[in-house]
Amino acid sequence: MRFDIITIFPGFFAGFFEHGIVRRAQADGLVHVGVHDLRAFAHDRHRTVDDRPFGGGEGMVLKPEPLAAALESLGVQRKESRKPEESSEHEQTRTRTILLSAQGRPWMQSTAREFARMDRVILICGRYEGVDERINELYCDGEVSIGDYVLSGGELAAAVVMDTVMRLVPGVLGNEASGEFESFGAEDAAITVDETGIPRSQHGSGGLLDYPHYTRPAEFQGLTTPEVLLNGDHREIRRWRREQQLRKTLANRPDLLDHAALSEEDKRLLAALGWPHRGGRQGGWPKGDRRQG
Ligand code: ADE
Repeated sequence: MRFDIITIFPGFFAGFFEHGIVRRAQADGLVHVGVHDLRAFAHDRHRTVDDRPFGGGEGMVLKPEPLAAALESLGVQRKESRKPEESSEHEQTRTRTILLSAQGRPWMQSTAREFARMDRVILICGRYEGVDERINELYCDGEVSIGDYVLSGGELAAAVVMDTVMRLVPGVLGNEASGEFESFGAEDAAITVDETGIPRSQHGSGGLLDYPHYTRPAEFQGLTTPEVLLNGDHREIRRWRREQQLRKTLANRPDLLDHAALSEEDKRLLAALGWPHRGGRQGGWPKGDRRQG
């Protein structure tokens, strides 16, 4: 799989590519990345990539000409001149050209899974107040936002998109299954129930958040690991983990429960916890939470 990033800060990605899974995916030849400096496609003396917005208003807008030149240099054609089999709707075309912006569609694990099936993803990092809309209209298959907040540019968002996609590319994670069983894991809204009636999601799939994890030492700063995890009764462990998933999801992301696949037992437990009337607080940390940042 190949990523191409168009940015005015090519140096931004240096550290990102040097660590962990992202580095290994490239070293193993499973993922290739090209970073392209937008200024190289601006041909005036000052290599100008931005200009004032028509109609007035704050800030500057990325000009269309350098972006179009950068895209065409990567072989991205205008949408209207793509052959039908190259149109973004066509299953055979496994290329996506995406504009990163706060106005985009929300990036989700399910989108990351869809992109992991592509051969090539081209990411345009917006800057300043925005990008001339004609670039979106002429070349982009979609606009992506990583959350309801405004970044100073699309670079961080591009890193998020690449990280979430790369780890789903077959062969990148050591343990193929580990991408499936985590928060928002495969089949977000589907779980199977084992013979004991406990939903089979070992980790956080089934549209729920993941359960809490513990490792050695069994006691740390006076806090002990829940006894159930130490006694080796796997049925009990599964039951405990499922309950923890439900509790955490209710506390932190009650909205997910509306679409999660829930067993009757899940619903009974949630009802005992006050669901659906008592979800967690949305849009803020609970009072008294002293988390930094
Ligand atoms: N650029 C600015 N804010 C953004 C966001 N939330 N997601 C993607 N790109 C952005």
